[in-house]
Amino acid sequence: MNSPTMQGLSLNAPSYVKHARLIAWVAEMAALCKPAAIHWCDGSEEEYQGLCQQLVDAGTFKKLNPAKRPNSFLACSDPTDVARVEDRTYICSEHKESAGPTNNWMAPQKMRATLNPLFDGCMKGRTMYVVPFSMGPLGSHIAHIGIELSDSAYVAVNQRIMTRMGKAVYDVLGADGAFVPCMHSVGAPLAAGQADVKWPCNSTKYIVHYPETREIWSYGSGYGGNALLGKKCFALRIASTMGRDQGWLAEHMLILGVSSPEGKKYHVAAAFPSACGKTNFSMLVPPEGFAGWKVTTIGDDIAWIKPHADGKMYAINPEAGYFGVAPGTNYHTNPNCMASLNKNVIFTNVALTDDGDVWWEGMEKDSGALPAHLIDWQGKDWTPAIAKETGAKAAHPNSRFTVAAGNNPALDSAWDDANGVPIDAFIFGGRRSTTVPLVTEARNWVEGVYMAATMGSETTAAAAGQQGVVRRDPFAMLPFTGYNVSDYFQHWLNMGDKLSQAGAKLPAIYCVNWFRKGEDGKFVWPGYGENMRVLKWMIDRLEGKAKGIDNGFGVSPTYAEITWQGLAFSQAEFETVTSLDKADWKQEIALHTELFGQLAYHLPAALEKTKAQFAQRLAA
Ligand code: OXD
Ligand code: MN
Repeated sequence: MNSPTMQGLSLNAPSYVKHARLIAWVAEMAALCKPAAIHWCDGSEEEYQGLCQQLVDAGTFKKLNPAKRPNSFLACSDPTDVARVEDRTYICSEHKESAGPTNNWMAPQKMRATLNPLFDGCMKGRTMYVVPFSMGPLGSHIAHIGIELSDSAYVAVNQRIMTRMGKAVYDVLGADGAFVPCMHSVGAPLAAGQADVKWPCNSTKYIVHYPETREIWSYGSGYGGNALLGKKCFALRIASTMGRDQGWLAEHMLILGVSSPEGKKYHVAAAFPSACGKTNFSMLVPPEGFAGWKVTTIGDDIAWIKPHADGKMYAINPEAGYFGVAPGTNYHTNPNCMASLNKNVIFTNVALTDDGDVWWEGMEKDSGALPAHLIDWQGKDWTPAIAKETGAKAAHPNSRFTVAAGNNPALDSAWDDANGVPIDAFIFGGRRSTTVPLVTEARNWVEGVYMAATMGSETTAAAAGQQGVVRRDPFAMLPFTGYNVSDYFQHWLNMGDKLSQAGAKLPAIYCVNWFRKGEDGKFVWPGYGENMRVLKWMIDRLEGKAKGIDNGFGVSPTYAEITWQGLAFSQAEFETVTSLDKADWKQEIALHTELFGQLAYHLPAALEKTKAQFAQRLAA
């Protein structure tokens, strides 16, 4: 294809790109950002290796010892660019009410006027990578395509792991297929002859979504969800608005398969806020007493769920890899994850060992000892003595691994199925040291939606600097809903109505809490692999084998209904994690009232009604 030229810069679109509108958009963005070169990513292994080498040469990547971690790299970011920036994240819908009270909003015109000068010349001296990606299996009717333009090679290589990235995307796109344009710049243009830094970024940051025109513009950060635009920006914020308009769901949910020894298989999608062990649950290894049971991973973070003609909800994992938090991961908390990380990994902000391997807090549980010396994520010496004296963490608490799903030994054989997997149950869970029982099944769809809408999680020190404060996080989507969250609740209610009116059996909904504490302040429930015991009870419920008891909030297991083989867990301990305290619940309902007050605009009447019914039942 003939390539237009801009100010001496050749667009150089490959001949396999047949999409005139896409080429014109790339030309327009190149004219705005003024990169020194354009690289159309083809997604090949040679390209990946070449870009990784380029990152090594630039000092962004350190190649790890191939004898310890073959084909793996460590990147350490600027210390000011280590996490998603929720306060700089905007939903720029035409009307403020459409973004709702949980999102930052600016009028699109005003935001465009703000961003335009920032993007003007922002890629000077850098290469603009054209990154074609499919969220979901290529060509799946549930999948959608994005094109990210980024001046970061780190983004290009991470996107190759996190998405189906490469030239095959253009075959699906054809001459006029739909794509979500994703603009990304680290916001650090280079003047002629100016030396680069290892991790370019800008102290001004904007993560902007235009839901009506389905565009993403991200400026100033090279890190994670701010920069890998397929993930939170597209697969949740933009996709949630697409789902509202088109009758499907984009959710902050892992998807797992659970198979019984008799060969029956169920699929569960589960929503947890960040820092609640979502990746661990998606890769769960059943404990002693569960011979023949198997849990397999379809996704660890995001689910796209569409109703099918058979009345069932089918889910795909739109991602192709895991961008997981490293600290706390070890052979006890998540053996499958540890095995996934043996090769072909990009680590970000973990510590470097003296023999060229990686380390993070939590790994001492496997080796039985802290390493004598490390280089921490900021490039400083770290020893157990320094850590004791200063509290310095070797790895940043939000340090990450990027790894292909194919590395996971527990990968589900249907994880890449274009049709998705039928969902039998939804789970919603937060981190609550009191009040919320271990597991409760909603008595119906509306009560399940209520449980999800009101879920909360205690903040961890790492996340918020303030420990133990309950932050309401409806559906674990608080930072990710691309529109008014009350309209999002209504969308869930509408989906349930529509499917049940068509005669479908809706998935069961469960509310879980692995984090109840005893009077000694310690967690009572052992968690991790032992969560299988709860999962098994859910399956018994689905199969009509467990009756449970109605505790006013929903249906909870009796002690006898849980499989205890291999775990010493007394009836008294069980009661500590399952009890429902009336005084606590009076307070809890008051907090729901406060939440509903904040979300009053378009709040579904059905949820207000459900609250009143809960209050009455729980007081009885
Ligand atoms: C994530 C998150 O990174 O939820 O997945 O913050
Ligand atoms: Mn997440």
